Amino acid sequence: MTDLALEGVSYRYRQGATLALDGIDLHIRAGERVAVVGQNGSGKTTLVRHLNGLLRPTLGRVLHDGRDVARRTVAQLARTVGLAFQDPDRQIFAGSVRREVEFGPRNLGISGGELHRVVDEALAEVGFAGEASTNPYDLGASRRKLLALASVQSMGTPVLILDEPTTGQDMRGVEIVKLLIDRAHAAGRTVIAISHDMEFVAASFDRVVVLRLGRVILDGSPASAFDEGSWEALRSTYLEPPLPAIIGSRLGLGATPTDDELLAAL
Ligand SMILES: Nc1ncnc2c1ncn2[C@@H]1O[C@H](COP(=O)(O)OP(=O)(O)OP(=O)(O)O)[C@@H](O)[C@H]1O
Ligand SMILES: [Mg+2]
Repeated sequence: MTDLALEGVSYRYRQGATLALDGIDLHIRAGERVAVVGQNGSGKTTLVRHLNGLLRPTLGRVLHDGRDVARRTVAQLARTVGLAFQDPDRQIFAGSVRREVEFGPRNLGISGGELHRVVDEALAEVGFAGEASTNPYDLGASRRKLLALASVQSMGTPVLILDEPTTGQDMRGVEIVKLLIDRAHAAGRTVIAISHDMEFVAASFDRVVVLRLGRVILDGSPASAFDEGSWEALRSTYLEPPLPAIIGSRLGLGATPTDDELLAAL
């Protein structure tokens, strides 16, 4: 179990550039499901890359369980935080699906039958059973993305971060991602995902963190983040509340109505 915190974190990619993160204070408790949303370039990827040490704050501190991680290497932090990249082609390197998914758990010291089992389980989870020997580059883009998710999932880290896991996925792909999140959550892992899909966010997360220009402008439950009182803030970072939230508000059902509630109100 790992509590994560960013304290006054600002980040600048180059001297003279504007701040990609501008004084972020964020505390994520173990076991939470947090969606990070906001317009393109608002700092989502930059933020999550601070949690596993790929980026180090220009100002401020990143803490795991209350301890500053500044002196810990990316390899050390990878035992705690698994991060699936926005672009799977920057992550995938192996010649077969199995070898790709094996890499992470093997590095954590898992071997033999246990390694085989962990990999098979991760592959089955994303619908890749029977494809262990396929070359990742023979898969389409959306399936490469699922493969990248499986390789991070298989490490079983206490914290799982998914950078835009549903981008490019059809309905079946989105369902696979939702199930993967459900299982990780049921196992007590923290799940943090970046997304532009507000219905996915409303369905699979307990908390929504909204970024604009490197700052947190909203942070709360889906019910509060998608409440009518938040729409102006959402729209200021080019997000539209999910359709059920708009209809639910019109019908007096609140921002996170269930399908049954919506149907009953019609
Ligand atoms: N490698 C880089 N070098 C220089 N500037 C960068 C780099 N990566 C991101 N930036 C800039 O930092 C800011 C935040 O970018 P970031 O990638 O974190 O945003 P994002 O919210 O993930 O966007 P998207 O939705 O497009 O993925 C943007 O202004 C972006 O142009
Ligand atoms: Mg991004």
